[in-house]
Amino acid sequence: MGGSIVLIGFMGAGKSTIGRGLAERLGFRFVDTDRMVIDRAGLSVTQIFRRYGEAGFRERETSVIEEVARYEGAVIATGGGAPTIERNANALKKAGPIVHLDVDIETVRNRTKRSASRRPLLKDRSAKDVAQLLEQRRKIYEDLADLTIDTVGKDTDQVVTEIMGELL
Ligand code: S3P
Repeated sequence: MGGSIVLIGFMGAGKSTIGRGLAERLGFRFVDTDRMVIDRAGLSVTQIFRRYGEAGFRERETSVIEEVARYEGAVIATGGGAPTIERNANALKKAGPIVHLDVDIETVRNRTKRSASRRPLLKDRSAKDVAQLLEQRRKIYEDLADLTIDTVGKDTDQVVTEIMGELL
């Protein structure tokens, strides 16, 4: 196992916010795979989906994941769909312990209300379909994770403290 910490979980689980807080407390470098894909493409996630389709986004995401999985001492926040692809899951396993930030559908709705337009997979889905996707993904996250943290009703500091207590 490598010397980084990987955060996985559904859209709205707080991977970026918690990742940044965790990296700061540990003195680790913070990397966000969505951010890297965006910066490299010079396009937003929505634009990448529109121009190259989901497959085009996933290709870019895999290439970033394979690269950051080789870093040492990083907190790696991944996009919600990343662990659903075996090649990504295999790379992430080598990077370090994998932490699943668990959420319920209510929290997903509240946390993504204002950003749904930036998330192409939420934009065209009914509430029922989002709930179904969450349930499907949750099994994948659970199977892959070394540790699951329930984030519902907790603030960033609480979750960061919990992760550190479990991992260190
Ligand atoms: C996706 C989640 C997004 C982003 C893309 C696809 C997904 O990341 O990678 O829109 O498949 O769940 P966040 O989980 O950071 O929203």
